[in-house]
Amino acid sequence: MSKTMNFTNPENGEVTELPMIEGTLGPAGVDVRSVYGQQGIFTYDPSFSSTCSCDSAITYIDGGNGILLYRGYPVDQLAKNSSFIEVAYLLLNGELPNASELEEFDTAIRRHTMLNESLTKFFQGFRYDAHPMAMLTGVVGSLSGFYHDTTDIYNPEHRKIFARRMIAKIPTIAAAAYKRYVGQPFVYPKNELDYCSNLLRMLFAVPAEEYEVDPVAAKALDVLFILHADHEQNASTSTVRMAGSTGCNPYAAISSGIAALWGPAHGGANEAVLRMLDQIGDVSQIPRFIEKAKDKNDPFRLMGFGHRVYKNFDPRANIIREYCHQVLEHLGMEDNPLFELALKLEEVALNDDYFKEKKLYPNVDFYSGIIYKALGIPVNMFTPMFAIARTVGWCAHWMEMIGDPAMRIARPRQIYVGSDQRDYVQMNQR
Ligand code: CMC
Repeated sequence: MSKTMNFTNPENGEVTELPMIEGTLGPAGVDVRSVYGQQGIFTYDPSFSSTCSCDSAITYIDGGNGILLYRGYPVDQLAKNSSFIEVAYLLLNGELPNASELEEFDTAIRRHTMLNESLTKFFQGFRYDAHPMAMLTGVVGSLSGFYHDTTDIYNPEHRKIFARRMIAKIPTIAAAAYKRYVGQPFVYPKNELDYCSNLLRMLFAVPAEEYEVDPVAAKALDVLFILHADHEQNASTSTVRMAGSTGCNPYAAISSGIAALWGPAHGGANEAVLRMLDQIGDVSQIPRFIEKAKDKNDPFRLMGFGHRVYKNFDPRANIIREYCHQVLEHLGMEDNPLFELALKLEEVALNDDYFKEKKLYPNVDFYSGIIYKALGIPVNMFTPMFAIARTVGWCAHWMEMIGDPAMRIARPRQIYVGSDQRDYVQMNQR
């Protein structure tokens, strides 16, 4: 027998029986869709702490136990055994590919890396010091002006082509934004290279000399991208779903996700971590900044600490921490003062009662910023790197949503707290 929960109207005692929705894993949900229609009462959850906006078969998070599964597979197993391209296939299609499926997918991604030449001109329109995330938001949105022959969102084949194009082109766009920022010529993709090697080359190669990709750097990037590929209904993914639910062009929906990712409470945190470490400057200053973070009257927060969902530890942070050591050792940067400062800050915060009581642990972005820095990636490119990886999750969620025949436009309601109805006042009477 399916479970239900009663909702009693406090005004008139009328009871509505609400069905409980059970997933494969995790807490059940109360289906409140009939509450307004039957009782004329809204449910209220401004930052969605208790509200499921959809059902989804892509990613599962158990924040209390630090579990993150992509299509059922633990992220640590994928980070250890898989590749970003294989994980992309898994997230988009639901199953791990066999050898020929992987080969076909990998080839398709490699062959869609180039940008329409007129699109490459868009970068010149930005001021030289525009943030790469501004360029990413604008240029990805501009992709909606291309590919009219394959953006019938109700055609599954078109959706597949869109996702592959988007995943293939986002590194090229991010690298072009960086080249614009540093005033160097745009480097065209080289399809013989794997996804991350190609990205590193597009970022760092210059026409004046040969560039050799460091396989350790490419591998570290690949692992980081696996860890960032999806994270269920986070702010940017929910934004992509919300924009996409209107039936808009999918590239425009992805662009809205990029804008949402930019904020320091979300993907912008990796950049904010580095700026914070610079601000702290020295191990001796840590106690002062810990006190600032605890002070309610001080806006300073320890960036890279805390998470809306993970209240024990962020499983991605544990994996990344290990890679962080490997990369620094490989690059001969173990004594890097920045890394020492980060580790000391982590140690102090983990032993501080305030952070312990509020369950504020280092999240994935605490370490990813340090790896990016060690790889020579400039701080304002950290969030675009996150965006490259998360593009896979955004595409998977958009495809899942559009492919669902029950999909309706997302339209939240509100509790209105403004002025009561009143009559217009003529200018000479105000
Ligand atoms: N430093 C100091 N205090 C903190 C921090 C922090 N980083 N994070 C939370 N708190 C305090 C907060 O002040 C609040 O205290 P009180 O209960 O006394 O009011 C309590 O802990 C709960 O915090 P919250 O802001 O209600 O929690 P939230 O779930 O709304 O916010 C968060 C989650 C990630 C936005 C927040 O922890 C934060 O701002 N962290 C720093 C930014 C960051 O690292 N973001 C990256 C998240 S991981 C990447 C991603 O998924 O995008």
